[in-house]
Amino acid sequence: LDNGLALKPTMGWLHWERFLCNTDCDMDPDNCISERLYMQMADVMVKEGWKEAGYEYVCIDDCWPSHQRDAQGRLQADPKRFPGGIKKLADYVHSKGLKLGIYSDVGDKTCAGYPASRGYYEIDAQTFADWGVDLLKFDGCNMNWTLLGSGYIEMSKALNKTGRSILYSCEWPLYEWPYRQPNYTAIRETCNHWRNFGDVYDSWSSIKSILEWTASHQDIIVSSAGPGGWNDPDMLLIGNFGLSHTQQESQMALWAIMAAPLLMSNDLRDICPRSKELLQNQRIIDINQDPLGKQGFLTAKVDSFEVWERPLSKNRLAIALLNKQELGGPRGFAIRAVPGWKICNPQCNVTQILPQYKEMGVHNPQSKLVVSVNPSGTALLTVTPVTSAFKRLHR
Ligand code: GLA
Repeated sequence: LDNGLALKPTMGWLHWERFLCNTDCDMDPDNCISERLYMQMADVMVKEGWKEAGYEYVCIDDCWPSHQRDAQGRLQADPKRFPGGIKKLADYVHSKGLKLGIYSDVGDKTCAGYPASRGYYEIDAQTFADWGVDLLKFDGCNMNWTLLGSGYIEMSKALNKTGRSILYSCEWPLYEWPYRQPNYTAIRETCNHWRNFGDVYDSWSSIKSILEWTASHQDIIVSSAGPGGWNDPDMLLIGNFGLSHTQQESQMALWAIMAAPLLMSNDLRDICPRSKELLQNQRIIDINQDPLGKQGFLTAKVDSFEVWERPLSKNRLAIALLNKQELGGPRGFAIRAVPGWKICNPQCNVTQILPQYKEMGVHNPQSKLVVSVNPSGTALLTVTPVTSAFKRLHR
């Protein structure tokens, strides 16, 4: 969507996977969906280096509104859980130098059964703009599929009409796939990113199914990604319960290769130092945010390894080697088997970013370099061609 936003994949925090629809603030005040939760996340994001690392949007998901619209037909936040209202919350988040995201749905009700926007697109867009909201996640539950496209387009227009810059996050293709192949040209014109596949769960099998779906549809979806519009494989689980550290590295590496929005759904108030370091790893973030804005894809399956490659600016290449053999210990992968290794002719410079940062030196097409990868882990590398001009310069 050409609204000047999401020129690089969105970075931030989104409550859903970790906090779901917990509305019981009497029993569970620290984890219920309330203004406190977002204020505390915003505080931590500033104090603990998240904002500095690039994470900017603090996003509300489902279950924030009151079950009734107000007398003017506007959505209102649940008064008990958001006593200050969304405008105050947005002011607070902005005072920290961050941005606020909110959630609604193109249909009659949200997925969790709260009031949604069908019949109210203009009113809701204006309400969000009046509140100072910076991002809208727009879900697709409870909608006749033949009306999905027109609904998403109408909301996109309504947001534009408010004159406020509001990043528009859609789930249009996810809800259309069961019926037909979505029109990605139209989706890219309408949305800043879009979910294609089912919800992420806190498990390695969930991450694997997302990667599998993405690889098997890459011919359809990869070319639609670029500055202003991105495929969204859903939230980062890093810092939660279901993934080993090795698997967390795999999610981070592959989300960087896929040019995915980096929306963490975790508890930043209580996160283990290794997960934090991984999420704030600037070298991985730089791959995700590379200015060329091309999405990477699966280029080979060799010996129970998956090779994923992403073209980067300055003729560089990012390579992820995912060890799919969930048995035994670390296994070696001979790097010259990577299809894009061509860029090492005559020579290239190799840097390993995961599992550890390591300068691997200069290589050529015959290189014997072998990279070791844990079961369900990923080695992430960048490769920079060494041109003769470059060599002359550095002699
Ligand atoms: C759908 C979406 C999720 C989340 C829930 C909320 O399942 O795909 O990301 O927003 O609805 O109910």
